[in-house]
Amino acid sequence: MGSSPLLLLWTADPKVVRAAETVAGEHGLTTRRADAADPAETPAVVVLDLDAPGAFDTLVDLRGRWPEALVAGHLGLPDRDRWLAAERAGCDLVANRGALAAALRKRLAAGAPRRGRRVPLFALADAAGRLGCVHRDPGTVEEPLAVYHVGSGFHACADRCPHAGAPLSEGELEGGVVTCPRHGSQFDVTTGERLRGPADTDIATYATVSDGGQLYLLVPD
Ligand code: FES
Repeated sequence: MGSSPLLLLWTADPKVVRAAETVAGEHGLTTRRADAADPAETPAVVVLDLDAPGAFDTLVDLRGRWPEALVAGHLGLPDRDRWLAAERAGCDLVANRGALAAALRKRLAAGAPRRGRRVPLFALADAAGRLGCVHRDPGTVEEPLAVYHVGSGFHACADRCPHAGAPLSEGELEGGVVTCPRHGSQFDVTTGERLRGPADTDIATYATVSDGGQLYLLVPD
């Protein structure tokens, strides 16, 4: 029999720790402090203090290390910019510290403690040695998406320009920035951030995980 899923506490805030332990108990999760956890253990859920020094670096690091973990971040004060930045850096859920437990409880009540289900995209061997757009997927999520191979990683994002709908993957990609072939809007394919108009919004990004020679898309349940 396997052990119960792990909730990793990357926070020292006593109020949050107590609340997270209560929620974990309700959902059959084992809690551990980040400094007490075995680094080989893969957490199902991570609770992260976004006000701690270096929290955003930690977030990017743990997002890369455990792409399937559900990451819940907490902030001491409502701050819209930090909130959005945390979501962009990979937080699945952001809440003020007093509201974290309720938000986490709601999320866990909606399904298994995980980030989403895996949908196979392609065999990694098919993309070996290729950089740029390596895959287009017309229908796994509600919008077409493109997968870019940039440096060492794969990044999946929406393949429709928010300005007038052009397929972004037909534009040029340079250093992780794609330029819309129609009117020149630019987006960072690793974060979805809009870097240049006329488009006035970011594009959606989707988490991926590679396992057993295959790249999977993590589709939220
Ligand atoms: S359609 Fe992309 S910039 Fe206009």
